[in-house]
Amino acid sequence: MDVKGHSAIVTGGGSGLGEATAKLLARKGAKVAVFDVNMTGAERVAKETGGVAIECNVADIASTEKAFEASRKAVGPARVLINCAGIGAGELLVKKDGSPSGAELFQKTVAVNLFGTFNCMRIGAADMSKLPPLADEERGVIVNTASVAAFEGQIGQIAYSASKGGIVGLGLPAARELGRYGIRVMTIAPGYIQTPLLDQVPENFRTALFASQVFPNKRFGKADEYAALALSIVENPMLNASVIRLDAGTRMPPK
Ligand SMILES: NC(=O)c1ccc[n+]([C@@H]2O[C@H](COP(=O)([O-])OP(=O)(O)OC[C@H]3O[C@@H](n4cnc5c(N)ncnc54)[C@H](O)[C@@H]3O)[C@@H](O)[C@H]2O)c1
Repeated sequence: MDVKGHSAIVTGGGSGLGEATAKLLARKGAKVAVFDVNMTGAERVAKETGGVAIECNVADIASTEKAFEASRKAVGPARVLINCAGIGAGELLVKKDGSPSGAELFQKTVAVNLFGTFNCMRIGAADMSKLPPLADEERGVIVNTASVAAFEGQIGQIAYSASKGGIVGLGLPAARELGRYGIRVMTIAPGYIQTPLLDQVPENFRTALFASQVFPNKRFGKADEYAALALSIVENPMLNASVIRLDAGTRMPPK
């Protein structure tokens, strides 16, 4: 699909991968709605892209329904949905003092990353299904963001890996169901991409992370490289129901 003149929603669009994607879609002529819980980031990106900033907690049903309604009013129903909203935090299943992990982090991570993705997909797909078809009978495209941790979760990543594994899992049945409406569903599984999420990694640990990549192995990926892949997925009608790793060949070790 050529995004020019069409509406696109980017969740988590106020930072990192979502920000880079919102900017690229806007440069290609899309009308972009930037969904985020962080309105400072969302408003900054909306200003730079000529789009609209919409407050949305993807883990919350009412907040997300309200955000889609606001987006429909502002830019029209979206043909493109890029799900980038996400959080990442670690916790051991059995803590170092022998006590069990708390339940809250797992519940929150799954609520934001997995349920949040589903929550936006269900509303976004229903909107797309009612739009007139374009070339190739296509009505819309959904791009979800998993992680290589969906496949090679490290020690301490149980919650994050489970949430991202869930995103991988829902891609195929969603694509199979939505194909009848001309809606494609693709998943990107990034490795290490330089964003505020990775700024927390200490300098000495970074070098080890670069080195675990096959090539390039002297830097992290760039948010623009994620955005370029997301755009390419939107533009290429033969990409559907798959997961693409964007990871310079890395295979994460146990820790
Ligand atoms: N950066 C990486 O190396 C990397 C690797 C693999 C996967 N990912 C995934 O890519 C996605 C984007 O990550 P990023 O690196 O750009 O991080 P980031 O922290 O820069 O951006 C994430 C954005 O999501 C927003 N957000 C968080 N919770 C939200 C909620 N409940 N509702 C709406 N918005 C919410 C944040 O405010 C932020 O603007 C995440 O799902 C992350 O797990 C990132």
